[in-house]
Amino acid sequence: MSDSLPEDLVTLSVDDVVRDFFARQPRWLAPEEETLRRSLGLKKRHDEWLAGRIAAKRAAQMFTGLPFRSLVIRRSVLENNRGQPELFVDGHTRLPGHLSISHAAGYAAASYTMGRVGVDLERIFFPEASLLETAFSVEERARLSSVPDERRAAASTLAWCQKEAYAKWLGRGFALPLVSLEPALDPRVSFEQGALPFAPEVLWARATERESSSP
Ligand SMILES: CC(C)(COP(=O)(O)OP(=O)(O)OC[C@H]1O[C@@H](n2cnc3c(N)ncnc32)[C@H](O)[C@@H]1OP(=O)(O)O)[C@@H](O)C(=O)NCCC(=O)NCCS
Repeated sequence: MSDSLPEDLVTLSVDDVVRDFFARQPRWLAPEEETLRRSLGLKKRHDEWLAGRIAAKRAAQMFTGLPFRSLVIRRSVLENNRGQPELFVDGHTRLPGHLSISHAAGYAAASYTMGRVGVDLERIFFPEASLLETAFSVEERARLSSVPDERRAAASTLAWCQKEAYAKWLGRGFALPLVSLEPALDPRVSFEQGALPFAPEVLWARATERESSSP
């Protein structure tokens, strides 16, 4: 587990983003995003969506140098990667990189990289037996049950984060049951993971393409 965050993994407090957004009324969102923001009725969904968008724009800005407002994030409507965030400039040109967003436990995280990427955040939790069975294979459960009691919740949460990050890396999202995803067996992907330095109860994982699997 890493104690520090990679520079290009942008992590923001949801409350800070929302406070800034309403206090300063910055022109962070493109008109179509502003329309979508106003349509989000549930406060939790609104706040997490907004923080995720701002984290993603900051991550993309590191690469492109473009202002937030000209970077437009849309969700794919294609069957094989429905919901996956995609980045456009001024609403027309799709940028070549890949974007991943996660929000949980009062934080939002995002990464923009040239190869495929998947990011997940979770607050440490102790999965019940039924959830372990839904999410983990027999081998994965055997490995987790060999972890000492005091470290098992963190180890299980991290394994969960890895799977969600891997699901996003694949772009399949809700289409695949977690138990069918075995990130450790996929030679194309490599993982970084850790706890947020400013909130150690929140764990993160990021899946990226292994150097050798890039064209
Ligand atoms: C889609 C999924 C990856 C989202 O993860 P989550 O932990 O629920 O929520 P997170 O906040 O971490 O991620 C949400 C973000 O994932 C992104 N996302 C959605 N669909 C995606 C896809 N097909 N590919 C990549 N990213 C996707 C979106 O950016 C979304 O944020 P937004 O709606 O604000 O744009 C996840 O729920 C999923 O489907 N996992 C597959 C396995 C599964 O069965 N999970 C349920 C466990 S029983």
